[in-house]
Amino acid sequence: MKEMILGVIGCGRIGQMHVENLIKCFPNVRIRLVCDTAPDLEWALKWKIPITDNLDQLLDCKEIEAVLIAAPSTYHIDLIKRVAAVGKHIFCEKPLAFDLDSIQEAVEAVETAGIKFQVGFNRRFDNDYKSIRDRVAAGVVGKPYVVKITNRGPVHPGLDFITNSGGMFMDKAVHDFDMAQYVTGQKVVEVFTHAGCLSNPEFAETGDVDTIMTSLRLSDGTLCNTDCARVTNYGYDQRLEIFGEKGMIKTRNIGETNITMNVPGVGLVADNPKWGFAERYFDAFVEQMKAFIAYLSNDDMKSPVDGYAAKSAVAVAVAARKSFQEKRSVKVSEVL
Ligand SMILES: NC(=O)c1ccc[n+]([C@@H]2O[C@H](COP(=O)([O-])OP(=O)(O)OC[C@H]3O[C@@H](n4cnc5c(N)ncnc54)[C@H](O)[C@@H]3O)[C@@H](O)[C@H]2O)c1
Repeated sequence: MKEMILGVIGCGRIGQMHVENLIKCFPNVRIRLVCDTAPDLEWALKWKIPITDNLDQLLDCKEIEAVLIAAPSTYHIDLIKRVAAVGKHIFCEKPLAFDLDSIQEAVEAVETAGIKFQVGFNRRFDNDYKSIRDRVAAGVVGKPYVVKITNRGPVHPGLDFITNSGGMFMDKAVHDFDMAQYVTGQKVVEVFTHAGCLSNPEFAETGDVDTIMTSLRLSDGTLCNTDCARVTNYGYDQRLEIFGEKGMIKTRNIGETNITMNVPGVGLVADNPKWGFAERYFDAFVEQMKAFIAYLSNDDMKSPVDGYAAKSAVAVAVAARKSFQEKRSVKVSEVL
């Protein structure tokens, strides 16, 4: 199989995870250079990865065919434009940006450059969610009536992270808005939001929230409820349920083990869910990269997650945030 030569921009939590997964699972991929404004030299030495803080060095490197962008979300648009301008293909983490005009500019830069472009909505590559999507599309539950999405993280990612994240609507709830549309094949048309800073009140002064509940109406009338929280202290609580005219389909959490224990005086005990995104979605992250590599290798393939899908999820996030700020129901068409 042909060797695929990649570069990476931004190598913190998720950038390092992508690089390590690529090294472990993709023998035909070589990471030629990583660029990070604060390079982690010890990590780079451990994984034998060339690292620089000079973006031009990566952009000028002719060998690099494609670039993974995993810098903080604030920088995505500028980086997409710079990488597109030198004709390298791009995988970019979500969200692309926090406003729709910027995303449109990035999509146009990609189209003008004629490069391949995939966005990091990794949950679409989770086997359970994919299987639910396929069964719903095949009519197994009949017409969907209600979708329930639970998306709770274990611990707050910290002030430094949220400063460049676009806030929780853009950074975390955006996964739920993408999932609601992906799993049903419908578009969100209207949203009503309640949100607050409940687990970390000290972060309220940043203007961000840490708990969000939305009520969504989809284009075919399906109703959806999302429950998104930063802090559980018990692991990555990720569940999905669809109820429709013929029945119900849902996923359970994936535990550290699959053991349940029934002991007199103790009761029924099950393991906590896997701890964080890297553990819970390990397989989905690998499948996502598999899809990207296949897309790079095959000129007949469409982008597994294109810029328009990413823009559509952010449009719902913009409407959901507006609903919270203005304490009213907001149609997505108002923010397009
Ligand atoms: N799909 C998911 O489930 C998921 C999970 C976590 C993070 N993310 C996304 O990945 C991105 C990065 O998140 P993270 O948690 O790894 O953040 P992080 O803060 O841990 O890492 C970001 C890294 O980028 C570097 N950096 C900052 N500005 C840069 C620039 N201009 N050029 C190059 N490097 C730069 C920082 O030094 C740091 O090493 C965000 O867009 C986030 O939304 C996605």
